[in-house]
Parts: sequence; structure tokens; C-alpha cells
Amino acid sequence: MSIFLCFLWLLLLLLVTIIFTKKSQSTKLKLPPGPRKLPIIGNLHNLQGLPHRCLQNLSKTHGPVMQLQFGFIPVVIVSSNQAAEEVLKTHDLDCCSRPETVASRTISYNFKDIGFAPYGEEWRAMRKLAVIELFSLKKVNSFRYIREEENDMLVKKLSEASQKQSPVNLKKALFTLVASIVCRLAFGENLHESEFINEDGMEDLASRSEKIQAKFCFSDFFPGGWILDRITGQSKSLNGIFEDLDRFFNRVLDDHLKPGRRVLESPDVVDVMIDMMNKQSQDGSFKLTTDHIKGVISDIFLAGVNTSATTILWAMTELMRSPRIMKKVQDEVRTVLGENKERITEQDLNQLNYFKLVIKETFRLHPAAPLLLPRETMSQIKIQDYDIPEKTQIMINVYAIARDPDLWENPDEFKPERFDDSSVDYRGLNFELLPFGSGRRICPGMTMGINMVELGLLNLLYFFDWGLPEGTTMKDIDLEEDGAIIIGKKVSLELVPIRRQ
Ligand code: HEM
Repeated sequence: MSIFLCFLWLLLLLLVTIIFTKKSQSTKLKLPPGPRKLPIIGNLHNLQGLPHRCLQNLSKTHGPVMQLQFGFIPVVIVSSNQAAEEVLKTHDLDCCSRPETVASRTISYNFKDIGFAPYGEEWRAMRKLAVIELFSLKKVNSFRYIREEENDMLVKKLSEASQKQSPVNLKKALFTLVASIVCRLAFGENLHESEFINEDGMEDLASRSEKIQAKFCFSDFFPGGWILDRITGQSKSLNGIFEDLDRFFNRVLDDHLKPGRRVLESPDVVDVMIDMMNKQSQDGSFKLTTDHIKGVISDIFLAGVNTSATTILWAMTELMRSPRIMKKVQDEVRTVLGENKERITEQDLNQLNYFKLVIKETFRLHPAAPLLLPRETMSQIKIQDYDIPEKTQIMINVYAIARDPDLWENPDEFKPERFDDSSVDYRGLNFELLPFGSGRRICPGMTMGINMVELGLLNLLYFFDWGLPEGTTMKDIDLEEDGAIIIGKKVSLELVPIRRQ
């Protein structure tokens, strides 16, 4: 029965493809060039390996504005800074929606979040709330003590490992650092004391939410694809992962709704949202609901933890591969901060120069989300003289742009000095360097992310020298990547911390 259904579906799809191709041939648009499409699957067969790298290679042949067809969905890939500026600045308003997929609908509680919601009144209201109430500079500063305390705890753990001269799994240590910070400030949950989630549980949940996002569903690319999703079990497995996440999000919410809960002086993100939900007037058109709160919890989970942890890990990886740069940055850090500090605070970050260039260079070579999050056009626009019709997906390959040899000398080399006399920054105004995106959809957690990355790396560099485990050499440290939307280091970095004082 299921084979018969598949056959019927393929036949129907072939018919639709023929009609679809005839129709698109008859229009007079100047569409971007791209690789040859196959019937039904379009260019899905061209996607081999990690998408940002594969698309970078394809764009070398087909150009910086290239069109592919994923099943029935037209997707334009942008791989130059000029074209990125046209999408993210000139046509930002026409391009700032998000495509709807089965996975993003599920994990965002039917688009009640910020990251995956299509453009519209509801997204604008949620985004405003995030920018003003949840991730504002004032709010981020009010959580400074959490970031500093969690870093102190990491330094303590690493110091113990240093006494035993045992190697540390830095990927895990950094994930725990960032997850502990984010859980405290967003969910009021202390990972070291929590009754219902510990460090391993947190890691598992974060990787599940990442997996949901990467889930391939036939219905995202083919009309009637839900039939195949049912037959192949895709829908079931997606819902299975989601149920685990939803259970955790419900625990967080229930904990906050308990009668008599004591709200701290700096209320966490969930407290703020519950307070707003309770106080909202009945007459406004936008109503904040518990699904909105869960949507934001889900966003923070997906966007807030792996991104920052991965960035610190890449910085350490590159520094370990380049002893000259490691020495230079540690010399600066230790000279400027003095030799005998017992504790680092965020104030210490203000005086550092080369250290900040190291971070900038890490964001250039290893943007955590190399294709940003996909956008969707809301009307027909022109990019670099090509017509891009309404409802086209747009991916900005910021990885390819940050490694474009026309923009960067020896682009694959880790060389913080390249920014010595340069005003190029990564906060969304320079289109050759966009680790946080740009325009209306720019990362609203940017300040928080940068703070976590800077403070984490500074603690690692100030208090410790770093050695390789016995039997390994610098050559064993590789740069292999892994991930779906957020791309991290595939293999962890095992290092031996050597406490200085
Ligand atoms: C180093 C750390 C981080 C990096 C590199 C990063 C990067 C990004 C990128 C590239 C996007 C997509 C932008 C676009 O589509 O143009 C994004 C969106 C987003 N990020 Fe971050 N992020 C980081 C940290 C955080 C943190 C700490 C939070 C919150 C706790 C956060 C919350 C979000 C949200 C909610 C969105 C969706 C925005 C929207 O669609 O309107 N991010 N981030």
C-alpha cells in the first residue's frame, strides 16, 4: 500500500514539475544563474557535505548571486558583500520574513517566537519586547554578576584539573559555562543545583533542539510531501524530539508560575514575560500567551548557547595552532591586567586591544551560523540586476564572504593583525563581516553573546597556560566542522590547563 502511494505521489509530482517548468519558462524574468536542475528534486543532489562550504564552491562557478531549486522551492544564495548589502540594507524590509518549515513551525510553537516567525505584527511585537525588555544593554548589564560567578566556577574547575595535570574536554567545559549562564539569566535555573536538569541533560536538550532544526521534511520541498513524511516516519521522529523539549520548557514555565515564587532583583527572562502577560491590557491586538513564552525559551536554547560556546572553542583552537599569536595575546592580557589578579571582571575587558582583534578574527573565520537564518522575500526585488520573485528563500553565505580573497588577504589564515588599522567591525554595519547578520533580523542577543565570548576567553588566557595531552602534537588539532544551522568544531579540543599562580 505504501509503495503504491509513493508511486502515485511521484507520478503526480512529475506532472506538477512539467506544468511548473512550462510556467516558469514562459515568464520574462532575469533570474540568477545556477547549476542545472533535475526533474522533481531540482538541485537537492548538489548539496553534498556542509551546506556553507558546498554553496561556497558552487558560487565560485555560478557567481555571487546564484539560484538553486530545493525540490519546488527557489533559493537564492548570496556570496558577496555588495549583494549582501542589497539584501540586508537596501531591500531589508522586502527580505525580512522567514520561510516556514515543518521543523521551524514545531519548535517555535507555531511561530510564536522571534527567530522563526514570519514578518508581521506578531513578530514585530515579540522582537520589540526582546530588544527593549529581554536583551537590552541595561538588562544584559544587570546579569553581569552571573557571568562573572560562572566564569569563577570554571576557573576553579580548571585549576583542579591543573593540579592533577589532567586533560580537559574544552568543548564540554565551555558548553557548560555558557549553558549555566544562559539558564540562570533566562530561566532562573542554576544548573549546578537544579532538581530537574543537570549539565548533561542540558547538553542533550541543546543538541536535540539543534537536530529538530536540521530535520529534513519532504513537505518543506514538495507539494503533498506530508504523505512521504508519514510513510518514512519523519513526522513521528520530529514530534518525538519536540515532546522532550516541550517537557523541559513546561517545567521551566511551571516553576515560574508556582504561587509564592520569589522574583529576584534582576528578574530572569521568563519572569519578565510572565509579568508582562499578567499585566497586559485587554484592548491591544497583540496578546502575549504562554506559547509566546515557550517560543522565546526555545529561541534562547537554540540561539544562545551553542553559538557563544562554539566561538570561544574556535578561538582557543586557532590560538593553540599558532603559538606566536597565543603568546602575543597572553602577554597583552597579563601586562595590562597585572600579574596577580584573583578574579577577572567585565571591567577588565575595556583595556584590551589585541585580545579584541583575536575575537574579531575568530568571528571572521568561524561564524557560528555561516548561512545566518534563511530569509524569504515578501515582494519581487532586484539584487545585482537579477530579478528575485516574491516567496524566494535567500541565504547569505557570510562564511564565503568572510573568506573572499578579493576582500581579505590570505583569507584562510588566522591573523588578528589584519584588523590593526581597520575600522571593519562585526556588529552588522560592515557587509564583509556579518557573524550576527544585519538589518531588521540581526541577532538581538549580540551584546550578550559578545560578553560571554569575551569574558570566557579572557579567563582562559589570563589564568592558564595550555598544554597538549601526552602523545599529541599541534598537528593533531584539526579544524573539521560539524552541525546544521550552527556549525561548531567536530572533534572536541582536549587540553591540559597549567595554572599560573
Ligand atoms: C556568539 C554568539 C551569537 C552569534 C554568533 C549569533 C548569531 C546569530 C545570527 C547569525 C542570527 C541570524 C541573523 C539574521 O538572520 O540576519 C541570530 C539570530 C538570533 N539570535 Fe543570535 N547569536 C549569538 C548569540 C545569541 C544569544 C546569546 C541570544 C539570546 C540569548 C541570541 C538570540 C537570537 C535570536 C532570538 C535570533 C533571531 C532574531 C530574529 O529573527 O529576529 N543570539 N543570531
